[in-house]
Amino acid sequence: MSQRLNLPIRPRRNRKNAAVRGLSRETVLTPQDLIYPLFIHEDESDDAIESMPGCHRWSLAGLVKEVGEAYSAGVRAVVFFPKIEEELKTSKGEECFNPDGLVPRAIKAVKEAYPDVVVITDVALDPYNSDGHDGIVVEGDDGELKILNDETVEVLCRQALCHADAGADIVSPSDMMDGRVGAIRAALDSAGHEDVSILSYTAKYASAYYGPFRGALDSAPKAGDKKTYQMDPANSREALREADLDVAEGADMLMVKPAGPYLDIVRLIRDAVDVPVAAYQVSGEYLMIKSAAKDGWVDEEKVAMESLLGIKRAGADMILTYFAKDVAARLGAS
Ligand code: PBG
Repeated sequence: MSQRLNLPIRPRRNRKNAAVRGLSRETVLTPQDLIYPLFIHEDESDDAIESMPGCHRWSLAGLVKEVGEAYSAGVRAVVFFPKIEEELKTSKGEECFNPDGLVPRAIKAVKEAYPDVVVITDVALDPYNSDGHDGIVVEGDDGELKILNDETVEVLCRQALCHADAGADIVSPSDMMDGRVGAIRAALDSAGHEDVSILSYTAKYASAYYGPFRGALDSAPKAGDKKTYQMDPANSREALREADLDVAEGADMLMVKPAGPYLDIVRLIRDAVDVPVAAYQVSGEYLMIKSAAKDGWVDEEKVAMESLLGIKRAGADMILTYFAKDVAARLGAS
């Protein structure tokens, strides 16, 4: 007989069965926490995206159908990413504020079919910009590419207004230009769109995890990289500086991106501000789980769920994830 340890405190008592574990659980993931990113294109067909298994570039009809399926699973928020035809791309990306463009039509189609779905739009130039950057590019005297800040902000304001006019509930600047939140807020307010919210990509890192997304949209920079506007992965104090500015400029919600490799930043910002915080589980994070599961190395359902729970536990109030529909369906079923 082994000796009984004298242990008045035994943490395992709170894990002794499913019901006790249920009572003790600190973090619960629900379908309402999830935002579903959807790719759209100017085509009648719905094309599977090779670099992102399980994701499609949707036609407008396909988009409405997919939103409907996600809706049935309990998802109430979506965000659109357009693949723009090459001939519509220009150096200033004017197509981004075309009222008859792909995104405004997608907003109207989804709001008409599902008025209570929150439609979020991405505000940045990269899908529309012939240089593949989030802002307007010029070549400096030294031959280096320069991304123009203030000129870009002007175009972003027109893009945000165009989305608001079409019925977007939330506009989400992902460009990382300085001062864009304040400028967009002022532009929206002066056009009578004071109810349209801003979800700002506050701490968006210059990350290699965006690779599959850029493949899906053909939106990779033609030259150079995004390091003069997206943040250095080595930095966290800078994230707080961006957060303070975005809140002061009127952002309603802040975002950290990517999510999984930046959980410390999610927690840092959650503790520093009072507005809701979002985290974006990006294409590379998604693909890594998908590929490992495809080869049978991990259980996709369980790892996807655990990755999202971890992001929420770190402090995210909402999560953008390509798993949104599947995970919501599973949460509803369990
Ligand atoms: C561009 C944008 C990117 C993503 C969302 N908006 C790519 C980039 O900054 O190059 C990436 C999302 C993902 O990888 O899932 N404004």
